[in-house]
Amino acid sequence: MTLLEKARSYEKENVKKISDEERPVYHLSPAVGWLNDPNGFSFYNGKYHLFYQYNPYSTRWDAMHWGHWTSEDLLKWKAEPAAMAPDMPYETGCFSGSAMTYKDGRHLVMYTAHNEFDKENGEHFREETQCMAFGDGIDYVRYENNPVLTGKDLPEGSYAEDFRDPKIWYEDGKYYCVAAVRMKDGLGSVLLFESEDALKWTYSKELLHNDGSFGDMWECPDMFELDGKRVISFSAMNMRNTSPLFRNGNCTLFCVKEEGKNIQAMDLGFDFYAPQSTLTKDGRRIVTAWMQAPESGGTCPDSNKWFGQMTFPRELTLKSGHVYQKPIDEIASLYERTVEKEFLAETETEKEEIRGRVADMTVTASANEDFCLKFAAEGDIYTSIEYRSSDRHLILNRSHAGRCASICDYREILTNAEDKLELRLLLDKYSFEIFVNGGYQALTGTLYETPLTADHFIFKGGKDTVKVEFNSIKSEYCLKY
Ligand code: FRU
Repeated sequence: MTLLEKARSYEKENVKKISDEERPVYHLSPAVGWLNDPNGFSFYNGKYHLFYQYNPYSTRWDAMHWGHWTSEDLLKWKAEPAAMAPDMPYETGCFSGSAMTYKDGRHLVMYTAHNEFDKENGEHFREETQCMAFGDGIDYVRYENNPVLTGKDLPEGSYAEDFRDPKIWYEDGKYYCVAAVRMKDGLGSVLLFESEDALKWTYSKELLHNDGSFGDMWECPDMFELDGKRVISFSAMNMRNTSPLFRNGNCTLFCVKEEGKNIQAMDLGFDFYAPQSTLTKDGRRIVTAWMQAPESGGTCPDSNKWFGQMTFPRELTLKSGHVYQKPIDEIASLYERTVEKEFLAETETEKEEIRGRVADMTVTASANEDFCLKFAAEGDIYTSIEYRSSDRHLILNRSHAGRCASICDYREILTNAEDKLELRLLLDKYSFEIFVNGGYQALTGTLYETPLTADHFIFKGGKDTVKVEFNSIKSEYCLKY
């Protein structure tokens, strides 16, 4: 039995042991076991395909497989059999990568073969190379001349031990990919490669270099066009918090190329990493990310049979040099009940009709007064987002969410609020995603340990009214097996 056959039969047997009720409603979770980065996000043969870094056998990271889902509308997803297992002599893990339709109609996958083991003489071996696979949307076969990019192709001063996460695209008759590499100074870099046929690749140039201000190694680069400008996104490891516009830890950044080195944080919350984008059928640039801080990968609650979720897909747009994010509009078809209210909340206020744990809610308040929203609340348990008008800071606080692990639970950021503060909250059973002022900033986090009965919203504003549009979300689960 190959490793892939073993994984497919294991997931088939064990997926039945997880009920719908144990899963998020409209966020994706792995078939069984562990999930990290989104991979191969692409529209192929009439469907969206989304793969993921996957360890079916436990809720911890280990030898990486590729899990697989498909969807027609980006809302309802079907779990497909695992697409790849580390079956080849050149890999102990199938690391992150991307996919697109090849010129002959096959689904083309480009991924990192991670190879790491102890040799008989006790030496440690580690190498990352880029490889291709071809598929029909279910079964994927490795290219016989793999790997297609190795350490030999890298510019002077790069480490082949950390060379990964190719994102491929086709443009003006050529294939291109960006990949991340660690340079000898320990810092990350985004490199561009090109190819006539997607099989023979050559190094083209360095696109972005870490000067030491943005963590050390970089991972999962992506490059795309927004409003005629090139945008690069990448995940920086071990960032320091250098201003209220960034955050510390492993975090994701955008660089808008033509605007000089204009670097922005993609998400200022706790749990967001390794995003990957694709183009929708109608030309929108959308992105999904691993909704987890890599550094809290070991905090899966004991009772969980799965661990890891993807963010709800976000549409990206560029306005005045800044990348805005909003949940894809398709979300509206998931609404069950809409409540619109405007009220005074000079003391902590609740509204009977605004209650639930699975919702899309937008709150607008005056930016000249302090404001606080508590959600997923019940008694002493809650998560809060608080606005301090004196310095226009937003404070996200998860320290009362019921967690037992002592990892980051507080973020403070500077907003762009002028007259109004608008907060859009996507709440699901085990997560929240907050979009500030039309998606100027985003803050995402998981809520694994908040009891599902915590379903109150508590508002506290000032002398101005608070406006709320609350949409509860249908409890039809997004994932089918
Ligand atoms: C990012 C990452 C990638 C790598 C993959 C391995 O979370 O470390 O760089 O390809 O995960 O699972």
